[in-house]
Amino acid sequence: MKVLVVGSGAREHALAWKLKQPPSAVDIIAAPGNAGTALLGRNVALGVTAANELAQLAVKELVDLAVIGPEAALAAGVADALRRSGIATFGPDRAGARLETSKAFAKQFMRRYGIPTAAAREAHDLKQAQRALALFPNGAVLKADGLAAGKGVVVCAETAVAETVLRDWYAERNLPGGGSTIVIEEPLQGREVSVMALVDGKGYRILAAACDYKRAQDGDSGPNTGGMGAYSPAADVLDEMALADIAKQIYEPAMEGLRREGIDYRGCLYAGLMLTQRGPSVLEFNARFGDPETQVVMPRLADDLGELLSAAATGRLDAVSTPRFSPDACVGVVLASPSYPQRSEPVAGLPIVPLPDGAIAFWGGSALARGTVDAAGGRVATICALGADIASARLRAYEGVRSYVAGLRPEQALRYRSDIGERAAVPVR
Ligand code: AMP
Ligand code: GLY
Repeated sequence: MKVLVVGSGAREHALAWKLKQPPSAVDIIAAPGNAGTALLGRNVALGVTAANELAQLAVKELVDLAVIGPEAALAAGVADALRRSGIATFGPDRAGARLETSKAFAKQFMRRYGIPTAAAREAHDLKQAQRALALFPNGAVLKADGLAAGKGVVVCAETAVAETVLRDWYAERNLPGGGSTIVIEEPLQGREVSVMALVDGKGYRILAAACDYKRAQDGDSGPNTGGMGAYSPAADVLDEMALADIAKQIYEPAMEGLRREGIDYRGCLYAGLMLTQRGPSVLEFNARFGDPETQVVMPRLADDLGELLSAAATGRLDAVSTPRFSPDACVGVVLASPSYPQRSEPVAGLPIVPLPDGAIAFWGGSALARGTVDAAGGRVATICALGADIASARLRAYEGVRSYVAGLRPEQALRYRSDIGERAAVPVR
């Protein structure tokens, strides 16, 4: 089997790494790929939004399956173009991707199909937004409608702060994503968890849950990032019964909604959830695999990824059984360039070395250069390790991190959070 993986992050490296394992052991072409995918297959220098070129590549290379990583590709219609060219594709068309690319669409969809989510109002200008804000006296969460690379959501504990943000967004024309629509919603309290499911247009298969860490610094302080680490399973927040409840309350109605709206969704449907006292509530849908959740879920997957993703892409998920996961836990720690997320400075000449105790490095945006890695900067790599429980996986992941950074030159300094998985590091009996 030959698979085209679209994307250049550690998520795509983790997907390619898992696809490469037996029995499928697929041939990998990555576009544009990174240092990690270059070691597993062949990189082709095409951007993730070059829909027609990617479709031409897939046809020319006779790929059996295309797997799309980033939301930018979905929003650019890469899945539509690939399917039009007859390529089995894992990743929804633009219509399905609206669950991620439009917060307003996602909220209306959840409301229409009774999917639990925070109470919200939509607004299109400053006046409307201010009127809507008056309905949320105990703080509000402001969400810009379009794709804004993680910068479109502001959680305001106080309504007065939300008022200032609204003025900045509308009066100063700083609305992230460049649109004019926003969603204002009630702040929810609870633990967060990420659940991903493979969807084949008719049915779905839930994957192991994970928790990610969005803030830049230890103790969940500092600015939001693309994600500084993750762990799976999320046994400290969810048990099997709670996961079954999420399937029933969220995925069942979501599938029904997609069916009724005529959306043939084939890909990953990611639900970012808050586990509130009233039950699970959807904070966001993503139309793709989570990053860095994928890096900690793939090493635990006991089944063949090529077979699962092909089944989803061709509407045959009913023919495969529920994906199985190793009882082992996985912890992933992101190594980032020093000023991330404010700036992403490139880091050149990073060594490729084996890590202690079987830890793995999944590379972010980067290129292979004379046997070393030239990283674009930002999130440089996710160092992942398995262990019998979160505590031992965490120890191994941090041993990997420390041994790796100890070998770097001063100008290659990378930073990382030191508390990934800490709160869940109680041995599970
Ligand atoms: P989103 O991109 O919608 O997932 O939002 C990014 C982050 O903002 C989430 O991971 C949460 O930590 C936080 N957030 C979003 N919506 C809410 C909400 N209604 N209440 C509290 N926190 C929220
Ligand atoms: N880890 C959150 C996301 O992938 O959006």
